[in-house]
Amino acid sequence: MTRRRIGILTSGGDSPGMNAAVWAAVRIGAGAGMQILGVRDGYKGLMDENVVELTTDRIEDVLDRGGTFLGTARCKEMLTEEGRAQAVRTIQKFGMEGLIVVGGDGSYQGARTLSQRGVPTVGLPGTIDNDLSYTDYTIGFDTALNTVCDSVLKIRDTMRSHDRVGIVEVMGRHCGDIALNAAVACGADYVLVPEMQYAEEFDLSNVARRVEHIYRTTRTYATIVLAEGVCYDMEHRAHVFRRRLEAATGHSVRETVLGYTQRGGSPSIYDRRLAINMADRAIQLLAQRVGNRVVGRRGGEIFDMDIMEALNMPRTFDRPLYDLANRLAGD
Ligand code: F6P
Repeated sequence: MTRRRIGILTSGGDSPGMNAAVWAAVRIGAGAGMQILGVRDGYKGLMDENVVELTTDRIEDVLDRGGTFLGTARCKEMLTEEGRAQAVRTIQKFGMEGLIVVGGDGSYQGARTLSQRGVPTVGLPGTIDNDLSYTDYTIGFDTALNTVCDSVLKIRDTMRSHDRVGIVEVMGRHCGDIALNAAVACGADYVLVPEMQYAEEFDLSNVARRVEHIYRTTRTYATIVLAEGVCYDMEHRAHVFRRRLEAATGHSVRETVLGYTQRGGSPSIYDRRLAINMADRAIQLLAQRVGNRVVGRRGGEIFDMDIMEALNMPRTFDRPLYDLANRLAGD
């Protein structure tokens, strides 16, 4: 009896837990009588017909590995008609009856166009940014948050020793979730996120006022978390912020841009569980030939919904959490 073939790819910026999702899809798929094919380097692998069979042996040691062993890429061809047609040709050539796409919103657009062309496709949210409104958590967010918090606390140690203000810039493009959650978890003295409209760049006067208040009343060091989405187009934004804050307060300020450390590392237990549960749902859907869905987690429950509906959901901002961050900082 021929086994049904399902493809899987990871796309966009990598995130810890992508490998766990592939691992679970292969294991669960094998149990359900499916053969899982891995597409290398995201949609690019569909352009280049770069497809490998994923046996349970092959994926054995990837569950807790960071990055994505399948590779990933941002694929411009998927934005063109010709590229999409080529993707479908590759899918047909390898006999894939469905596809799992692990990635962010750009990757979901590709998944939608494939579903429209008759390939049942299911999206799993793989991005550290947590910027997909339809789900409470994306795969990789928790690990990135743990990495960020570890760094913030280390930076605070040395700021304390030197009576300095530490600015920590974190990822998140247009989403402040990493910054906000890390600020609360670390008790940062100020958090700047792209969702807030500030009267001036870096909300400078308010940050300076808070730093001065802290130095006058409590301690002579402070920690500020800056989301990269604040002044996103400014080059060396953390450095510019540092100079301005130094000028405004007269205190010694240092900046650290955490950068790509946030995307690496072994996935946390939470991210592994999330990835495994979500991959399980994806396999269940594809076993029934159901596509054009994305999987999420809300209120502790795994669910699936229409891709377009998910993409059209308005961005939400956890304003109560932002207010809590400020209250924790003594506002
Ligand atoms: O994975 C999401 C993200 O990390 C963003 O926060 C960041 O701006 C972007 O990817 C940068 O990724 P790259 O340099 O790989 O395009």
